[in-house]
Amino acid sequence: MERTLILIKPDGVQRGLIGQILSRFEDKGLAIAGMKLMHMSEDLAKKHYEPHQDRPFFAPLVQFMTSSPIVALTLEGVNAISICRKLVGATFGPDAEPGTIRGDYGMSRSFNLIHASDSLPSAAREIQLFFEPNELLDIHRAIQPWIYDTEDLALAETLT
Ligand code: CMP
Repeated sequence: MERTLILIKPDGVQRGLIGQILSRFEDKGLAIAGMKLMHMSEDLAKKHYEPHQDRPFFAPLVQFMTSSPIVALTLEGVNAISICRKLVGATFGPDAEPGTIRGDYGMSRSFNLIHASDSLPSAAREIQLFFEPNELLDIHRAIQPWIYDTEDLALAETLT
């Protein structure tokens, strides 16, 4: 089953949106494999955003991400990475479509509520920055056959 890293950023936590954001993913059918409330260290923020280290927004982004607690999540599902990116929406709230998380909750061009891994290699790299292997649980959900097509479920299980 595919896994992706989601971060509810400091603005999402401060605004009391943890529950509502989490509900978007749960309502869609994604499973929570790992979850923690944490204060990101500068070292972790720099590692997480390493691909952006030469961009002008890198330093303010690290400052923002370390300014207040975040929630780190590992979510699991068939095509979890692309589905979560769609649920999250365009990078900043004013550009994001209504119905997406950023489109429904965000107005800022610097704070954007949430991060979602953009590819399989990014997800693998990012998940291990935030979670030890034993912090990720393989929850068997009895509801699974009511969420996925049988073929998708069988395929996902061969990839696990
Ligand atoms: P995120 O999904 O966490 O991944 C990279 C982050 O860089 C992105 O969300 C934004 O927070 C930030 N970002 C991307 N583009 C810009 C930009 N043009 N100006 C400021 N921050 C940006």
